[in-house]
Amino acid sequence: MSLPHIPVLSREITELFGAMKEGLFVDCTIGYGGHSEAILRSFSAIRCIGIDRDKTAIEFSKNRLKEFGDRVGFIQGSFGTIFPTLKKDDIVGVLADLGVSSPQLCGDDRGFSFSSSALDMRMDTNAEISAEEIVNNYSTEELVKIFVEYGEEREAHKIASLIAANRPFKTAKELADLVAKNIMRRKIHPATKIFQAIRIAVNHELEELRLLLDEAEKLQKGAIVGIISFHSLEDRMVKERFKEWARECVCPTEAIRCLCGGNHALGRILTKKPIVAGRDEVKANPKSRSAKLRGFSFLRGLNET
Ligand SMILES: C[S@@+](CC[C@H](N)C(=O)[O-])C[C@H]1O[C@@H](n2cnc3c(N)ncnc32)[C@H](O)[C@@H]1O
Repeated sequence: MSLPHIPVLSREITELFGAMKEGLFVDCTIGYGGHSEAILRSFSAIRCIGIDRDKTAIEFSKNRLKEFGDRVGFIQGSFGTIFPTLKKDDIVGVLADLGVSSPQLCGDDRGFSFSSSALDMRMDTNAEISAEEIVNNYSTEELVKIFVEYGEEREAHKIASLIAANRPFKTAKELADLVAKNIMRRKIHPATKIFQAIRIAVNHELEELRLLLDEAEKLQKGAIVGIISFHSLEDRMVKERFKEWARECVCPTEAIRCLCGGNHALGRILTKKPIVAGRDEVKANPKSRSAKLRGFSFLRGLNET
């Protein structure tokens, strides 16, 4: 079977979840099944549920993982909606490999790449709002807000005004070419940040991550969460939330001494620094160069004292 997507940090993922014995592993972004396959092979008493917004990816994974029979199940939808509906008492591991898969990124009809002949960027092709809607119909002020908040783009005003003056756009290529003609960037394609911003807005990516992290707080003792992010906005969110979960003392910062008992940590951070791909992996799979994996292990739930 030819594999359309190479999973990043696959060995590191099986190591991170190494303490799992039996129970349910939730792959929130099963994509083309690479991480789930590694987990199912490495842990014979683990069952897996794979979630993905992308119907094509789910269909591929069903076929790829059929040898595991009823150890694996699939749900199409967003993890922000699906994960809260799952019973938490059996879950021992949760993985989210955020971002887009290779077929999404490279598919000419998906609109994620600078050369794409579509202007779409929906991970779920049935979702209501596409990049075309945002680029052609949002006001200049709304575009600026998206470019600043989700792209941290320094020239947000200039780019938003350029877009407003040159609409309508039919393809991602037209948009990328316009930005490239007018904005100078040395290290990255000049449209990188606004493409990231539009993609995040189309797929509500930060909101999805927030919903997942909120819900993960209900996981049982011993459960492990691993999140791979590909840009600093997501990585920052994960890092801050893990720090919050690991905080022993919840006294106000102005308190002179600890009065809370100092035993409020929900668990411990498994990755002091994010795990990144080694040189060999980056060479074999350049997409892995921006991946950052962080892990957390729960010692107790939010409601236990
Ligand atoms: C980087 S790929 C995952 C690849 C996968 N780990 C593998 O081994 O093939 C990311 C996948 O997550 C999915 N995705 C991203 N955000 C999602 C969300 N909020 N809910 C469900 N799926 C999501 C995308 O559709 C995509 O298929």
